[in-house]
Amino acid sequence: MSHHTQMPKETGLDHSLKVLKEGYPYFLKRREEMDTDVFETTILGQKAYCLGGESGAELFYDTSKFKRDKAMPKPVQKVLTGQHGVQSLDGKKHEDRKKMFMSLMSPKELDRLTTLLENYWYQSAKKWESMDQIVLYDEVKEILCRTACEWAGVPLLEEEVKDTTRNLANLFEKTASISPSYLQGTHSRKKLENWIKKLVQQVRNGELKPEENTTLYVFSWHRDDIGKLMDEDVAAVEVLNIIRPIVAVAIYIAFTAQALIQYPNEAEKLITKGSKQYQYFVQEVRRFYPFFPFQAAITTKDFTWNGYPFKKETLTVLDIYGTNHDPKIWENADQFFPDRFNDWKESPFSFIPQGGGDHLGGHRCAGEWITIKVMNVCLDFLVNQLSFSVPKQDLEFNLTKFPTLPNSKIIFSNVKRTKPVLDSNL
Ligand code: HEM
Repeated sequence: MSHHTQMPKETGLDHSLKVLKEGYPYFLKRREEMDTDVFETTILGQKAYCLGGESGAELFYDTSKFKRDKAMPKPVQKVLTGQHGVQSLDGKKHEDRKKMFMSLMSPKELDRLTTLLENYWYQSAKKWESMDQIVLYDEVKEILCRTACEWAGVPLLEEEVKDTTRNLANLFEKTASISPSYLQGTHSRKKLENWIKKLVQQVRNGELKPEENTTLYVFSWHRDDIGKLMDEDVAAVEVLNIIRPIVAVAIYIAFTAQALIQYPNEAEKLITKGSKQYQYFVQEVRRFYPFFPFQAAITTKDFTWNGYPFKKETLTVLDIYGTNHDPKIWENADQFFPDRFNDWKESPFSFIPQGGGDHLGGHRCAGEWITIKVMNVCLDFLVNQLSFSVPKQDLEFNLTKFPTLPNSKIIFSNVKRTKPVLDSNL
């Protein structure tokens, strides 16, 4: 017989508003106060378990104990992820769909993405030379929108670029249903889903012939475990599950630039292009800066873990931000210090900006390698290919905004390419 211990508990009525008010550090603060990787609380009008730290993350990714179906709040689905996509699937259905995503992530495909990205960066930088100043975050969103669509085989006319970038960004910028701009998010999702759905129809009836290695082709023709094509709506949701988050990497690029400006001693270490130091810098940006605050799942059964009883069908949140800032895992967790990755003992459950565990067998982010690649290319651009001035601006970021960004969105003036000779290659 298992011995039960009382799970640490946050008392009081519903804490949802407090979570929003305190923002990213909410769960870590409680875990530290109670000295625990798991505690019970009440959020979204229901009892919930909060898991964090290495052991909490390991438990969260045990698919025999947790499922994703109905875990994510509907308002978030209606803007951020869409409905019936890979995020909401479990078991064999998830495995099949996730394989479809991971089949796009070969080194060759990542190289193709890199080449597109470098070209678009370079073209934009040329344009910036004639501008007084630029807002880097806005510019990078557009660069990434062009890159993502072309890489995914999604045709995009020049006159559609601005609107498409704005609509894609609305999906991750206007996710919080308490914000007055939430409706813009739902509107953008409807527009984008209709657009991609038409493209899937055109691929299927032969009017449009994207390259066979592209997302649009692969997803349009993917057959599931029982040999069925995806519904057009679902195929559209999944194509957007590739394009949207590639554009969202712009948030990390804004933070990369913020780090270069605020930590000049660390920036100085980026002497040798492509060196390990670049990797450490990118990893530390992903660890240090807030992006995904938490992830939700639901228990599939009653079970006991570390002596604590868990009840079936209970909402469970994984504290992503707090695990990346957990002082039990990271020395001087609140310092930006890329060199910590020099002797980092790699674990799939301690460094989880894009989820933990396995990419194929679990829900860990399908685009983690793309993200790292894109960040490396952009870091190289900022350090080695551009010169710019940094006018006085507000570089702070607000820990109660989901997702958050440096307030100024990073303003550069006097932008020049340091290697304009590359022009002839474009
Ligand atoms: C911008 C930086 C990114 C961050 C911070 C991020 C973060 C995350 C997180 C936290 C999850 C959930 C993990 C879980 O459910 O346990 C996730 C899932 C996912 N991400 Fe990302 N992601 C990023 C970029 C990308 C990119 C570039 C792509 C695609 C090209 C992508 C595609 C996906 C997909 C398809 C899933 C669902 C995986 C599944 O449910 O099995 N993400 N991401």
